[in-house]
Amino acid sequence: MTTEAFNAREFRDALSSFATGVTVVTCLDANGEPVGATASSFNSVSMDPPLILWSITKTAYSADAFINAKHFVVNVLGADQTDISNKFARSGTDKFADVEVEKGIGGVPMLPGTITCFECEAWATYDGGDHEIIVGQVKAMRSTAGSGLVFYRGAYATAEAIPTLAPVETNDVSHFIDNYLLYYLTRATHQMGDEFHQLVADDGLTTKEWRVLACLYNENSMSLAELAKRTMVDQTTLLELALGLQKHDMARVQQLDSGTKLTGTIAGQQRVVHLIADCQEAEQSALEGLDADAAETLKTMLQRIIANTD
Ligand SMILES: Cc1cc2nc3c(=O)[nH]c(=O)nc-3n(C[C@H](O)[C@H](O)[C@H](O)COP(=O)(O)O)c2cc1C
Repeated sequence: MTTEAFNAREFRDALSSFATGVTVVTCLDANGEPVGATASSFNSVSMDPPLILWSITKTAYSADAFINAKHFVVNVLGADQTDISNKFARSGTDKFADVEVEKGIGGVPMLPGTITCFECEAWATYDGGDHEIIVGQVKAMRSTAGSGLVFYRGAYATAEAIPTLAPVETNDVSHFIDNYLLYYLTRATHQMGDEFHQLVADDGLTTKEWRVLACLYNENSMSLAELAKRTMVDQTTLLELALGLQKHDMARVQQLDSGTKLTGTIAGQQRVVHLIADCQEAEQSALEGLDADAAETLKTMLQRIIANTD
């Protein structure tokens, strides 16, 4: 679909991909009666002077009241206020019937339990097609740390912060170490590995045997040269080790024209299956605080470093 050709439905759907908060904007009409409408078009405009805007459809029952109001209040709804949002989105009802309001700027009602209230003086109104854009100068406000109600793709939602990697506290590390990749890689490897290698030893395997069985897991096959790289064990030691495993049916060693090939076996798999589970658990806890995408990115970056330094 191009941007030149779209219908109203497609336009509305595309707009709904922009998540917004939900507000109820209130004012007094010409007779001093309270008026309110649910609005997600609220946005910030200027810091100095402090200006905000929202827009009201010109056909709304309350449009005239808002366009002519000297003051209005933007009540930012909390995540638990969908009922208030629905109530003020319904035309022609007595929206203030069982709502206990406080009076704000110019006597305009402020709704209870909201997370923020902006008390505004009308600054300007602009023609915005089938909407009127209303700009207000914020004269007073109150705000709490509560969680706001979100409107996204035509439905109410709540916002959750994406966990970020908190900077690790470093005390007294020299500037060089503080920025040295190998320091981080080595320290992470030691910290992650120490505990796990003890588990391997307690299980009666050497670290080298564990690496071989883990690399050949799932009846994987690879050349002696490739396995040497992956296990970080020299080829002579590795061949001896593999022949030892073969005696217990935990690996297969084949001499081919193309070189020595090693293959995993079911018995080899069974020997380390529980250690694989321990490994995965340890990995989960080491990656705590990183989301799945960040963890994947970290692995991709490490693969790149391994390829670059091969
Ligand atoms: C989540 C949500 C956001 C809305 N945002 C706006 C808006 O920004 N501007 C608008 O004119 N109407 C908006 N509406 C619709 C009005 O709340 C609705 O037309 C209401 O009936 C207006 O009140 P009135 O008819 O008493 O004037 C929204 C409705 C919902 C549910």
